[in-house]
Amino acid sequence: MKRFLLILFLIFSIFVFSEIKIGVLLPLTGGISAFGDWTKKGIELAYSQKSTVLGEKITLVYADTRSEKTEAANAMARLIDKEKVVAVIGEIASSNSIAAAEIAESRKVPQVAVTSTNPLVTQGKKFVSRVCFIDPLQGTALAEFAGKTLKAKKVAILVDIEQDYSVGLTNYFKERFEKKYKGQILEVRYKSGDQEFSAQLAQALAFNSDVIMFTGYYNEIALAAQQARAMGYKGYFIAGDGADAPELIKIGGQAVEGLYFTTHYVPEAAKTKIAKDFVEAFKKKYNTLPAMNAALGYDAYMLIVNAIERAKSKDPVKINEAIRSTKGFQGVSGNIDIDENGNAVKDVIIVQVKGGKFTYVTTIGPEDLK
Ligand code: PHE
Repeated sequence: MKRFLLILFLIFSIFVFSEIKIGVLLPLTGGISAFGDWTKKGIELAYSQKSTVLGEKITLVYADTRSEKTEAANAMARLIDKEKVVAVIGEIASSNSIAAAEIAESRKVPQVAVTSTNPLVTQGKKFVSRVCFIDPLQGTALAEFAGKTLKAKKVAILVDIEQDYSVGLTNYFKERFEKKYKGQILEVRYKSGDQEFSAQLAQALAFNSDVIMFTGYYNEIALAAQQARAMGYKGYFIAGDGADAPELIKIGGQAVEGLYFTTHYVPEAAKTKIAKDFVEAFKKKYNTLPAMNAALGYDAYMLIVNAIERAKSKDPVKINEAIRSTKGFQGVSGNIDIDENGNAVKDVIIVQVKGGKFTYVTTIGPEDLK
C-alpha cells in the first residue's frame, strides 16, 4: 500500500511539477502599455490553443517593464535568474529590448523580440531574434511611399530622441529620401511622454512641409496630430509602426484620419487559413479585431514552442539554435524565416486610417526596395 501511494505521488508530482516556463517581457503599464496589452492578448490566445510541449505543461511567466529600459533589464534578469525560464518573448519598444538583450545574451537564454525594429536589438548577438522586419527596410519603404506615391518634397519629422527606434527610423528614411528623391528634411525633437508639441509644429509649418512624419509612438503621435490640425496644417501625416495601436484613433480621433503608416500586419489582409482562423478565434475570445501586436505576439509564442519541439530539449542553448534556424514558419502575420542575424525577413505593409479604421493600402517587399 505504501509503495502504491509513493508511486501515485511520483506520478502526480511529475504531472504537477514538470513544466516548461516561457517568460513574457512586456510594457504592461506606463507610456506604451497599449502595445503590451495587445501583445498579451495574442500570446494568451496562442497559449489557449497550445499549452504543452515535449509532453510537459507550459507556464507563462509575465514581467512588466513599465515601458522603461532600466526596468526592462531588471525584469529580464528576474525571469532568467529567479524564474528559470527557457526562453523569453519581448519586448516591444526597441530601447527596452536592447536593454533586456544584454542580460539574455550574458545568460545564454533566447529572447524573441516582438515588434522591436531597430537593428541594434539583434546586432552582434547570438541569443536575440525577432519576428519582425527591421528599420532600414521600414525607413526605405516610408521614403519610397513619401517620394513616389505622395510626391513629397519637404518632410518635417517629429523625432522622439529617447527612443532608439525613432532616431533610427528617422535616419533610414532620410538616407533614401534625400538621395533618391532629393527631398528636404527638417527634424524636430521631443521626448517620450511630452504632451505639448506646438513649438515643434510651428517650425514644421514655417518650413512649409507637405508631409509631417512621426517616428515615435501612438500617444505622442495622436496628440501632435491634433495640435497640428488645430494650427491649420493641411498636409499629409505619415508614421512608422509605432503608430499601430487602436489607441491611436481612440486618442487622436478625427485628427489622425488619413494618416498613413508602415506596419507588420492588418487583419483585413489576412489571406492564409491560419491567418483567417486567428482573426476568427481572436474575435470570439475578445469580441474585437486583433491589433497588429496581438498577431505578432501570437507568432512569437508559437515560434518558440515550435523551436522547443524541434530542439527536443528544454536546454535554452538548444532552443536558441532551433529559433535561429527557423525557416518557413507559418505565422498569422506571414511566413517567417529567421536570417543569420536573428531577424525575420518579411514584407512591409502600408495602412491608412480611414473612417476611424485601419485600412490596408499596399504591401512592399524587400525585393521592391533594392
Ligand atoms: N517598432 C517599434 C520599436 O522598435 C515598436 C513598436 C512597433 C511599437 C509596433 C508598436 C507597434 O520600438
